[in-house]
Amino acid sequence: MTARFHNPVDTRYGYGSLKELVSLTEGQNVALVIFPEARGLGLVDRIQGLLGDRLVYIIEDVQPNPDVAQLRSTYERFWRDAADCETVIAVGGGSAIDTAKALIVGTETGTFDELLALLATGKAFEPARSKALIAAPTTAGTGSEVTPWATIWDSGSQKKYSLHLDCTWPKVAIIDPELMLTVPAGVTVSTGLDALSHALESIWNINANPVSDNFAISAIRDILECLPQLYRDLSNKELRSRMALAALKAGMAFSNTKTALAHSISYEMTLRYGLPHGIACSFTLPLVLGLAWGQDEARDRTLQQVFGCDLITAQSQLRAFLHALQVKTEFTDYGVSAKEAEEIIAFAMQGARGKNFIGSQAA
Ligand SMILES: NC(=O)c1ccc[n+]([C@@H]2O[C@H](COP(=O)([O-])OP(=O)(O)OC[C@H]3O[C@@H](n4cnc5c(N)ncnc54)[C@H](O)[C@@H]3O)[C@@H](O)[C@H]2O)c1
Repeated sequence: MTARFHNPVDTRYGYGSLKELVSLTEGQNVALVIFPEARGLGLVDRIQGLLGDRLVYIIEDVQPNPDVAQLRSTYERFWRDAADCETVIAVGGGSAIDTAKALIVGTETGTFDELLALLATGKAFEPARSKALIAAPTTAGTGSEVTPWATIWDSGSQKKYSLHLDCTWPKVAIIDPELMLTVPAGVTVSTGLDALSHALESIWNINANPVSDNFAISAIRDILECLPQLYRDLSNKELRSRMALAALKAGMAFSNTKTALAHSISYEMTLRYGLPHGIACSFTLPLVLGLAWGQDEARDRTLQQVFGCDLITAQSQLRAFLHALQVKTEFTDYGVSAKEAEEIIAFAMQGARGKNFIGSQAA
């Protein structure tokens, strides 16, 4: 069978690459979406210095896990006050990048509820207007800079929407590890585990192919080796660079496969139990590895390139890795009973992402 891999994002990587913003935005009006701590860290001033008069609009009150409750007013203000910007630059973690992805999809009326109504249909649509997106991640995790997806949360109604259109692929991704040096320990771990989850989920996935596998294996090896070291040495530039590249590779892998069961489980754990995304989608990885193993020979061979041939050893290795990062690996650790966990897993198998899992047919 022929494999196809498609990723249209013009990707720049390396220390100092943020300054490429200057040549990428020549002659344009741009808006900036940036994480709240950035001003205190001097990053807003630095970007203002790079862009000068081109920077006409700034949103810096981005909250973790963009929620409809806050997005509505941000979106409507943006389309009222910054409709003439050609490009939106997102500098931040997945929350800033996903916020920017929601902003660039313009509705006819400029109202956010019109966008939500379109998302609620679950079908692709042609937006009335849109803007180009440049994404510069400041966490090594989500891979959102090289994927078309944005997760929009509605915690009030215990729901989430997935935005995915041709225009939500970033035009350019700038991965500058220097931006990640200020990420605190907890976020470094949870985002790094999100990246590990992306890589593994792309392997135990019905959409996997040799190209995505190649990105995934390389990302997993790097994360297993680097993340525990980085946790103990947060200002180590080389480790930050390696994790930035690993998260990018994991992002490339799942940009073509989407995620699978661990992510499907995570949505319930985030909505019901408030677990941060990176922990919610990684604490079940040893369990899901066990469910994947033996489902498909080719998938087993790929997993075994990383973990060796014995499942019990592989699961123990993954559990020990998570425990060393202070992440607990059982549902009961999060107050979920065994019966409830079974229900969550069964429900997650039937979700859109759960159906990508190689074991979902057998379940
Ligand atoms: N679109 C995708 O493909 C995709 C994939 C995975 C996750 N997500 C989404 O991404 C969001 C989570 O993103 P995240 O895990 O990167 O976390 P985040 O963006 O919420 O950031 C976590 C915290 O770290 C802070 N922060 C970010 N960069 C920093 C820096 N350089 N220095 C200091 N503090 C910094 C943020 O302000 C925030 O308080 C969720 O909404 C999730 O649904 C999207």
